[in-house]
Amino acid sequence: MNILKLKDEITALKEKHNAIILAHNYQLDEVQEIADYTGDSFGLSKLAASTTADVIVFCGVKFMAESAYILSPEKTVLQPDLKAGCPLAESINPEELQAKKEEYPEAAVVCYVNSSAEIKALSDICCTSSNAAGIVNSLEENQVLFVPDKNLADYVAGNTEKEIIPWDGCCATHNAVTAADVHELRNLYPDGIVTVHPECRPEVIALADHVGSTAEMIRFAKETDSEKIIIGTEMGTLYKLKKDNPDKKFYLLSRELVCSDMKLNNLEKIKAALETMQHQVTVPENIRKAAFRSLDRMLQVKTNKTSYCQL
Ligand code: 13P
Repeated sequence: MNILKLKDEITALKEKHNAIILAHNYQLDEVQEIADYTGDSFGLSKLAASTTADVIVFCGVKFMAESAYILSPEKTVLQPDLKAGCPLAESINPEELQAKKEEYPEAAVVCYVNSSAEIKALSDICCTSSNAAGIVNSLEENQVLFVPDKNLADYVAGNTEKEIIPWDGCCATHNAVTAADVHELRNLYPDGIVTVHPECRPEVIALADHVGSTAEMIRFAKETDSEKIIIGTEMGTLYKLKKDNPDKKFYLLSRELVCSDMKLNNLEKIKAALETMQHQVTVPENIRKAAFRSLDRMLQVKTNKTSYCQL
């Protein structure tokens, strides 16, 4: 179908249903182009909690749409492709977390937002890649069970005095980047600057010039004087980086930096979602209420981060 016609139809459907489209920075270019807002997990959670739209079309993966519903159950939250999941979020189940909690009864439980509603419901507070260390440092407890990303847990451990007990999960996409990749790209572009996501391995983070969430990497790229920027996160982020900085050059650290789940949404599926009001993402009310506590507590922690942008 003609892409301009498709975009016009989506715009008309959005108006008809008082809908907004939120797109994570990893979405396909065409999805980011049509979105009302793009951002990182933190920024999009804040938007989902505050929007006055009746319908949120969440272009990301399941835990993101679920978080939007947890924060705004009175809204209709649509996920264009229900198959878009997050293997990291699926690396821990409620029984496993319950057993770990019993092993460490004194520990506060901090869950990365890349987790299921059930895991959020069993946690004391959520965090995202942009606020993880701040959230951990805001807690009274000195021992923290940090699930499910071991690389992010390691990064947090380097930015807190508290004892961090990690879960053994990781994002396969970020974990695929190696220290050798950083050395290779630095050799190719010696005047380049390296920014990586905190889901990368500790040895990759140790070699980087900057570490941040996708939104923080986008901000960093704008602010740095360097004209060559080496990127250690999913390739979808290049859309905004190139759009904001037409005169700068961007180089991905690895060809592995592609999340196939994030690429499942497209314009046809967004249109179908708005036409049929499918696929609605919901969470059983008892789990939603408990998960809301963890997400809302995170949002109450004072931070000056916004992490999203209106297109
Ligand atoms: P951000 O918090 O940077 O959006 O990252 C989310 C994510 O899923 C990274 O893989």
